[in-house]
Amino acid sequence: MVGSFLCPTPAAWAAHPADLDAGKEAYVANCARCHGDLGDGKGPDAQRMIPRPRDFTTGTYKFRTTASGTPPTDEDLFHTISYGLAGTRMLGWEGLNEETRHNLVAYIKGLSPKFTESAPQPVDIGKDPGKKADLARGKQLYADLGCAACHGALGRANGPSAAALVDDWNQPARPANFAHKWTLRAGGEPKEIVTRLATGVDGTPMPSYIDAVPVEDLWHLAYYLHSIQEETEWGWALRPQQATALPSEPADPAWNKVPQRDVKLWSNLYADGAVVSTNVYWAKIQALSDGNEIVFRIGWDDPTQSKESPADQLAVVFAPEASDAWEVGSLQSWPAADSPALDVWLWSSTANQIRQATTVGFDLPASSPTLPAQAVYEEGRWWLTFKKQLQPGSVTPMALVAWDGGNQEIARKRSVSSWIDLTEERRNDSR
Ligand code: HEC
Ligand code: HEC
Repeated sequence: MVGSFLCPTPAAWAAHPADLDAGKEAYVANCARCHGDLGDGKGPDAQRMIPRPRDFTTGTYKFRTTASGTPPTDEDLFHTISYGLAGTRMLGWEGLNEETRHNLVAYIKGLSPKFTESAPQPVDIGKDPGKKADLARGKQLYADLGCAACHGALGRANGPSAAALVDDWNQPARPANFAHKWTLRAGGEPKEIVTRLATGVDGTPMPSYIDAVPVEDLWHLAYYLHSIQEETEWGWALRPQQATALPSEPADPAWNKVPQRDVKLWSNLYADGAVVSTNVYWAKIQALSDGNEIVFRIGWDDPTQSKESPADQLAVVFAPEASDAWEVGSLQSWPAADSPALDVWLWSSTANQIRQATTVGFDLPASSPTLPAQAVYEEGRWWLTFKKQLQPGSVTPMALVAWDGGNQEIARKRSVSSWIDLTEERRNDSR
């Protein structure tokens, strides 16, 4: 929560009374389409997103530096408005000048009686131990305090309770995935994590731990969670690394040294005007080539392993010609009338095999060949490896489509990535 951002001191706030009319004007212009004219979280765009925009009338705020159940401070609200919430549609509003943000804070506070009925109670998070943080102790606390029930043993949001959690607004409450710093709403630095542990995330099943253990332990825990965050390499291109021997198992240690490409996946399926929630939002792709074949390893987080129908599925889609990808545009709407055929490699957890066909849509013909593939599921993450013949000299657009069977994802209820360019080269024809 606290960083090196420009934030007026409490004294400066007091000396500079907010202009509520100006706050309302800025709210109507910038915030109401999501948060609603009345601040009830029911703006015209609200149904398009998960998590939903906050309902300001209840005065319940998730991200605070204050004790659970008490309102946030003005600085907390100023910080959220300025920097937004990672992994959500709440972007930062640094483009609005400080005075406007100050007026917005006052305006949204006025939407709930909570701010006059109770006062914020800042929580003391003690001292940052820095390099003295004890990661082993943090890991032990993670087990002892039962975090894994929701967040999973390795912190990948796959705990046994995860699927059933709901928030105060009757929406599914997904536990944080600690592998992915870029999804941690209010920041992934130890000080930000320790603040969440000390204050809880009000309105959600995430409790406060300030009374559970000494505050030093919360720091060890926060540093442990920080240590399991994974690196990401976002981008639009994938160039397989040259190798003499190609691994076939996902667990082969050779993969540890292979560069990765991270991609985001999302759903744009609507039902009754609201976006349908799907579970897979990230995958990483690695590729090695020996000059004849490419072997891929794809990892993606899926909170449940589905052994029966509906299966977990992953489709790796290649566009035979680059122009096909242009014609399709986003794979979200594929197949549509007149869609071109694409080269579909469809893996399913029930049969644990890949079927391949150049076809229109994901109902592959029964005659499609079955190709070897290896898949393993480990603590909330699937790993899949398979090989494909190299087409030297070509740049092939590829994209991923994922279905979490445990979330009843079938047909168009799916998560889809953008296209990335796969550069296929013969050995040594680069540089
Ligand atoms: C495109 C939609 C959108 C717009 C526009 C938007 N927000 Fe949000 N806002 C959200 C979403 C979604 C959340 C909830 C995120 C979550 O629950 O993690 C949110 C949450 C918040 C929170 C609550 C944080 C908490 O601790 O619970 C505040 C405060 C907030 N927004 C203020 C504003 C203000 C002020 C504006 C206008 C300057 C604004 N928002 C504009 C989508 C939006
Ligand atoms: C009962 C289920 C549950 C338990 C137990 C639980 N959490 Fe959470 N946790 C959640 C949920 C749900 C969220 C997401 C809240 C939101 O943003 O809507 C969350 C969010 C968080 C966040 C905030 C991440 C962010 O986005 O900024 C942290 C940090 C966290 N949990 C750590 C822990 C740790 C450490 C423990 C054990 C000491 C723990 N949690 C126990 C359910 C739980």
